Amino acid sequence: MKLKNQINNVLNLSIPVIMAPMFLVSNVSMIKAAMHNGIAGVFPSLNFRKQGELERILQELNDTLLSIDKGNYGVNLIVQKSNALYKKHLEICIKYQVPFFVTSLGDPTETINQAHAYGGKVFCDVTTLKHAEICAKAGCDGFIAVGHGAGGHAGEHPLHVLIPALKKAFPQIPVIAAGGIATGSGILATQVMGADGVSIGTRFIASTECSVNEQYKQAITNAGMDDIVLTEKLSGTPCNVINTEDVKRLGYKQHWLQRWLSKYKRTKKWYKLFVQINGMKKLEKSVLPNYYNQMWSAGKSVHLIDEVASCDDIVEQLIKEYKTAYSTLDSWLE
Ligand SMILES: Cc1cc2nc3c(=O)[nH]c(=O)nc-3n(C[C@H](O)[C@H](O)[C@H](O)COP(=O)(O)O)c2cc1C
Repeated sequence: MKLKNQINNVLNLSIPVIMAPMFLVSNVSMIKAAMHNGIAGVFPSLNFRKQGELERILQELNDTLLSIDKGNYGVNLIVQKSNALYKKHLEICIKYQVPFFVTSLGDPTETINQAHAYGGKVFCDVTTLKHAEICAKAGCDGFIAVGHGAGGHAGEHPLHVLIPALKKAFPQIPVIAAGGIATGSGILATQVMGADGVSIGTRFIASTECSVNEQYKQAITNAGMDDIVLTEKLSGTPCNVINTEDVKRLGYKQHWLQRWLSKYKRTKKWYKLFVQINGMKKLEKSVLPNYYNQMWSAGKSVHLIDEVASCDDIVEQLIKEYKTAYSTLDSWLE
């Protein structure tokens, strides 16, 4: 399938699909599978924190790039001050000339300036017009519009509103839709709303290449949309998770003292860091084999996922569903 598409040209893809970055979930096999299927694989730099690990992986992915015609990879950087590894990871990524970045939270100016110096591209996660304004001013190459129901730190707004709102406010900037997309018809629907591409996370957790434990994958295939809840208790920012017994025990809202500590000038930096590190540990204990902590992040698209499949099969299925959905459009008009 060939699509006339701005994102395909900018990122050298066959279809404008990004395998979304997922903390503790994205791995090298998934990224390579994405690249071999002509889509883009993105991983959070924080997944590779051991000495020399990020450098080794970037070299491996740059070598893979040389062996394929279409397909690409990118690195997700949390550009907020609370990410102590941001500067170090940015420096490594710039050295290896990462083809493109996805930034989350914070001001992306520094990443954009450094990436643009060698022709790298930068797409910014946005959930509001206010944050989009900051990213547009900084010169981003596109937005990832993260809507309500997305896995991880979801947005508040439905994609049906967020995509056209971004397009209206910033007509020149490409928009990639994220949140709740797990089928070919979902891809087509976001395109009809004005999106130039999609970023898909949760669907790829239930893939054979993904190395999270089998219980997590089974929870994804078994869960329905009502099983996904937002909790502020993991990272301080609302995060979509499967409503397991462990999540019920943890709770959903921060209480008044926790909120106060996150806002008060003198405590906010350290308290936020403390919450994030604690949450990270809980998530880490939930994804590894032989761990039975059940803090599993996922989006509402779990409802549309019934089986674990290889990344090749998932992409093939998306294309098939897209074509079927597209072919029905004509029959709508009288
Ligand atoms: C387990 C998990 C971890 C995530 N971690 C990150 C992350 O580290 N950085 C980021 O920018 N987005 C993260 N996200 C959000 C995804 O990049 C993407 O926006 C989201 O998965 C799209 O919604 P979907 O899951 O409904 O496809 C995460 C999502 C999930 C499900």
